[in-house]
Amino acid sequence: MTSFYSVKDDLLNAELIEGIKVGKHEVQHAYFKGRRKLNQMVWLYFMTFSKFHTFTFMNYALLTSKSKLPDVKTTIFTTVGTLARKHNAIDLSQGFPNFDADPKLLSLVTDAMESGHNQYAPMPGYLGLREVISEKIETLHNHRYNPENEITVTVGATQAIYTAITAFIGLGDEVIVIKPAYDCYEPAIALNGGKAIYVQLNAPDYTIDWSDFKEKISNRTKMVIINTPHNPSGKILSKQDMLMLQELLKPTNSILLSDEVYEHIIFDGETHHSASRFKDLAERSFICASFGKTFHVTGWKIGYCAAPAELMNEFRKVHQFAVFCVDHPVQRALAMYLKNTAHYLELNNFYQQKRDFFLNGIKASRFKFTPSQGTYFQLLDYTDITMENDESLGKRLIVDHRLASIPISSFNIKNRNDHMLRFCFAKKQDTLEKAIEILCSF
Ligand SMILES: Cc1ncc(COP(=O)(O)O)c(C=O)c1O
Repeated sequence: MTSFYSVKDDLLNAELIEGIKVGKHEVQHAYFKGRRKLNQMVWLYFMTFSKFHTFTFMNYALLTSKSKLPDVKTTIFTTVGTLARKHNAIDLSQGFPNFDADPKLLSLVTDAMESGHNQYAPMPGYLGLREVISEKIETLHNHRYNPENEITVTVGATQAIYTAITAFIGLGDEVIVIKPAYDCYEPAIALNGGKAIYVQLNAPDYTIDWSDFKEKISNRTKMVIINTPHNPSGKILSKQDMLMLQELLKPTNSILLSDEVYEHIIFDGETHHSASRFKDLAERSFICASFGKTFHVTGWKIGYCAAPAELMNEFRKVHQFAVFCVDHPVQRALAMYLKNTAHYLELNNFYQQKRDFFLNGIKASRFKFTPSQGTYFQLLDYTDITMENDESLGKRLIVDHRLASIPISSFNIKNRNDHMLRFCFAKKQDTLEKAIEILCSF
């Protein structure tokens, strides 16, 4: 049996075959090494959700796995990113900064490593970090989570979301997903046997149709997922929206999963209406957050989840066997860094300047926009230029003009085309200047 490490090396030399059929069984991604011939011994490596498995086969009949996610294709981020690199395009597609984090934070991590915090952290996270998270939420939203049993440090918000869904969603449970939606919710629901029930935001202003939402709620609704500030629209849920949500969920047993990864990127003096601010919502909510987004360190994959003790207890049962714990020295560093509230409170202003620079720059272009209310994304409406679909325009922008963005139809129900492209403005000044030049000449 080949070891895990040599499998990874072997994969570099192996041949990738997508969507092959073996008898009546389908395999999404298969890697063959050696000659591909029936009844001949081959090494077959295939990749599942996050692990590589190695098998020796006498023939393909042993391959019995049916994809658990048959509809999941290569994500739009990978497709666009690959095309952008091929054409050496300015990349405003993916949601991460192209500038570095505060050197103070980096040296705090080095200090933590040099001080010997290099072994496992406690399962729910370093207590010092959970304490400052608790203080932060209490100060900002007037709701106290007990750091002992109501806050868990996670591998980014993605793991918090996956874990909360896994802890509660089972076969046939319905989960309301508001579209366009960030792409990690639906696979997690499907892997747990649940069913996504969609509510489509209105275009072009991306408001919620609350009567549609109300119709979709039933006694099968185990969970509702919201995201504010919202990726990709840049909209925030207002206080009225949150009160409406609270009222509609009151007679139900539904859990609320509130994805608040852009909690500290809110513009024009608006307020982030966290679910934790609303007593009846807080009692049923998981609040998922990301230090990656807040401190320009998306590659560190570290975030947290806050929920009432009873919900968190179930969450931790999954967490401890999925990851057990999270990067220890980084937790130590964040605990110190978070003590200075300016490190996150100044983020609104920092990103507002970038948003305004970008929008002022493209005023003279033929793109139309409503300024983003939060996140580091801006949607641009191109209906004054063309009525082609967003994927085709997005591709043309990359290939012919060397600028990459994300077509948002892939996040809508039935790929509804809103004639909008999403641009990420978490970029250095000169990157934004180059993008502005291209957009103005388009
Ligand atoms: C809305 C939303 N939720 C969750 C995530 C994932 O956050 P993390 O990188 O902390 O896992 C992202 C990342 O782009 C996001 O945009």
